[in-house]
Amino acid sequence: MKKRVFSGIQPTGNIHIGNYLGAIKRWVSMQANYDNIFCIVDLHAITVLQDPKVLKAKIRELTGLYLAAGIDENKSIVFLQSHIHEHSQLAWIMNCFIPMGWMQRMTQFKEKSAKQKETVSTGLFDYPALMAADILLYKTDVVPVGEDQKQHVELARDAAQRFNNIYGETFVLPEPLIAEVGARIMGLDDPTKKMSKSENAPNHAIGLLDTPDVIRKKIMRATTDSQTTVIFDTTRPGIYNLLTIYQTLTGENKKDIEAKFEGKGYGDFKKALAEVVIESLRPLQERYKELTADPGHIDAILKSGADKARPLAEKTLAEVKKRIGLG
Ligand code: TYM
Repeated sequence: MKKRVFSGIQPTGNIHIGNYLGAIKRWVSMQANYDNIFCIVDLHAITVLQDPKVLKAKIRELTGLYLAAGIDENKSIVFLQSHIHEHSQLAWIMNCFIPMGWMQRMTQFKEKSAKQKETVSTGLFDYPALMAADILLYKTDVVPVGEDQKQHVELARDAAQRFNNIYGETFVLPEPLIAEVGARIMGLDDPTKKMSKSENAPNHAIGLLDTPDVIRKKIMRATTDSQTTVIFDTTRPGIYNLLTIYQTLTGENKKDIEAKFEGKGYGDFKKALAEVVIESLRPLQERYKELTADPGHIDAILKSGADKARPLAEKTLAEVKKRIGLG
């Protein structure tokens, strides 16, 4: 039996190359060896206020991007979180098993709430309980995510263990799967900060649907330093980040990349990187156009994905309710 993979992305902001390298590209490369479920996590998206029309459009866009990147709806279940009510129900149950102290340690909440201050929603604080429910409902073995989500997956694992200790073996204990390279792509405008969907600065991120001209401009303007040699040096975060993007997209090793750019400067390297990014995204962008020409097609895929996910989710929730003594 193949191991089960579950992962998801929030349909918010501009899906960028960090989401692609840290998550989607890896899901595609692992697809054949696992039993996969990929979710569009719209319930997580509403932990921050969203414009309803934009949210709806973003759900379709993200589904289109999953498929265009190579997620095959015949090999993987692709569905929308809010279509399966069991996610919210298990999230409530998880709330009752996750101590406040565990939640208070979540670094992402600390960072996000520091920006929003008193307007921060209870849902944002509680978001790891919903994420634990997503993962545990499907008896997931492996959760491929970027570095920033590792702590949340570990919390899901701890919650599963705590539940199993109290009520007996119910949940599978999930493991985060973090890539060695590409799990934390940094912002092009500030390579000391993670590339983020919610950051609006124009040169911050490369969007998966950016045109070749925009990609060239963003990369040429990316912040580096006053040195010149093109080498993987962690004390030079700007060039290190660009080299990491190059490495993850080409699959070449560090030594070969450094050899290729020996004697060349940052400008030559940036030009080469821009072409690598443009050519890597070209097939995805072409497929995206075809797939989304008919929005009905995307909606039909989400409906059929929900029909496949629902029986799995219902089975786990029924088991959990029985264990606890609920209705
Ligand atoms: P989200 O939507 O913020 O990010 C989606 C995925 O992209 C990864 N990622 C990055 N990887 C590398 N470099 C970056 N700069 C970068 N930024 C983001 C994230 O680690 C993630 O893998 N809570 C999750 C969504 C979620 C989920 C789940 C994931 C909800 N339920 C269950 C796995 C399993 C989130 O907000 O990801």
